[in-house]
Amino acid sequence: MAYNHFMKTTVIDIDPENINEDAIRKAAVLIRKGEVVAFPTETVYGLGANALDASAVHRIFEAKGRPSDNPLIVHICDISMLEEVAEHVPSKAHLLMERFWPGPLTIIMKKHKKIPYEVTAGLDTVGVRMPDHPIALALIRSAGVPIAAPSANISGRPSPTKPEHVIADMQGRIAAIIAGGTCKVGMESTVLDLSGDNPVLYRPGGITLEMIEGVIGKVDTAPGILKPVFAEGAVPSPGMKYKHYSPKARVIIVDGPIDRVIARIKKEADAYRQRGYNVGIMATEQTKAMYSEYMVIAVGDREKPETIAAALFDTLRLFDKAKADVVLAEAVDTNGVGLAIMNRMVRAAGFDIIHA
Ligand code: TXA
Ligand code: MG
Repeated sequence: MAYNHFMKTTVIDIDPENINEDAIRKAAVLIRKGEVVAFPTETVYGLGANALDASAVHRIFEAKGRPSDNPLIVHICDISMLEEVAEHVPSKAHLLMERFWPGPLTIIMKKHKKIPYEVTAGLDTVGVRMPDHPIALALIRSAGVPIAAPSANISGRPSPTKPEHVIADMQGRIAAIIAGGTCKVGMESTVLDLSGDNPVLYRPGGITLEMIEGVIGKVDTAPGILKPVFAEGAVPSPGMKYKHYSPKARVIIVDGPIDRVIARIKKEADAYRQRGYNVGIMATEQTKAMYSEYMVIAVGDREKPETIAAALFDTLRLFDKAKADVVLAEAVDTNGVGLAIMNRMVRAAGFDIIHA
């Protein structure tokens, strides 16, 4: 989508360990004026605006190039703010909020009438979360309003986990960017729907399915988590149907027993090289030595999948910087946070998976 409303973007540096309240106030004033401000959370950077102001929210969609049928998450800084966001808070939501907030869990509930349909893309439900990040919480508190925010990337690109990612995507499109360090979780929040009869997981994230089931019992998983969903209109969470997280390179995932994965990746890498492509390999600490004759990046440690989650989006952007045309990526196990990692990887790959 062409973007043609250039504006000057102020970068506001804030140290999350030592928050400058004046700098927070400057950003909060912009939010209150209806401007869009990018800010760090523990998951990824968000592109925030006053969730009670329909025209401010409209600016988020414009800056991001986001399809207008994809709803935004509303961020709050204390439980009392829920009163003007959700019409009804189910008892399972209370249990989960107590256990996991602040943190990377978004809960979908019936929306309050104060939340405009611009936020929810016309739905009667709203996704809400309390981020576990001192800058995000201070910004919401200082603005005094709930903040609607999608990830601060241009629609379709990998989500931003470092200030430079946000600057690369949003410079010239929004009023301000709070540069506040690297996001620790590195993957967007878990999205759980509690608005219906049974809880449904739409998007896996840092709070895993196993952790949620440990608190509220059985959770259904939406069919689109690891597979493409094609049915227009029939998708319960619109974010599931769009191409996502894509670097400029074509990403291909290789899945299977690790020895066969390594052998197949090398074979594919040689074939692409012969055809003149610049090939990158996304490996792990345990396997990177196997690919020493190729451009290889270890995304993290297989024994500590949270390290892979934290670095995945940055690694995808690094392959762009290295001008890779094709990235061959090792699959990971889908237990625990691995489900979130594979959910993002299969989308980055446009569901292009080789079974070795
Ligand atoms: O960690 C995060 O969640 C980050 C940070 C900034 O908080 N935000 C984020 O937002 O990832 P976004 O807009 O990139 O993803 C929101 C996802 C989309 O897949 C959207 O379809 C889904 O949540 N969603 C939001 N509200 C919904 C609703 N009412 N019903 C169904 N799905 C909803
Ligand atoms: Mg996003």
